[in-house]
Amino acid sequence: MPAFVFFDCLHNREFPTTITIRSSAKLDYLPEPDIFHDIAGHVPMHTDRHFADTLVRFGECAHTAADIVSGIRDETERIHTLTNIIKAMARFFWFTIEFGLMRSPNGLRVYGSGLLSSYGEIEHAIDSPNVQRYPIQLEWAINQAFEIHHYQPLLFIVDSFDHLFSLVDRLEQWMKDGKLNHVAPGEPGVNESDLKSFLDAGR
Ligand SMILES: [Fe+2]
Repeated sequence: MPAFVFFDCLHNREFPTTITIRSSAKLDYLPEPDIFHDIAGHVPMHTDRHFADTLVRFGECAHTAADIVSGIRDETERIHTLTNIIKAMARFFWFTIEFGLMRSPNGLRVYGSGLLSSYGEIEHAIDSPNVQRYPIQLEWAINQAFEIHHYQPLLFIVDSFDHLFSLVDRLEQWMKDGKLNHVAPGEPGVNESDLKSFLDAGR
């Protein structure tokens, strides 16, 4: 699914899910989302009002991005800017919605859906000495590449969903200020259909 189409679903309080299911040999961990990840990992989180509103806010950011780049006349600059904005959004989404940790009175908790749909990675995320865990910084998350084929070695901690929501506000402001136009190179890649989906939306 092209990136803008996905974010626009969030904007409309809809959540598209995959219909494939992992094989029993890969019960614990799968790099690509499947219906278990989507239904067991994502959907229960949507019952939290603050979390759900954060997803809607992400959707609004995608619309803001489409508007911003539609105003750039030079095609090379338009594609470069959009590629960087999508990369920044994807990284932030990854380190929060998919792999976020939250501080709680009883210690760290996982809220990221990529963690919630892997019983092995939940324990790894909380207890393993091989994981770096830091309070989230927006400037770090948007410039941090990641790999999808193994347990995550670096995770970021938010204080609350209100905190997370405020970070998405700041992400949008930074987008408007041009601070997402030149993020660090590296994963994730942005493909043609992702770019086209944003450009079509901005017309
Ligand atoms: Fe996911």
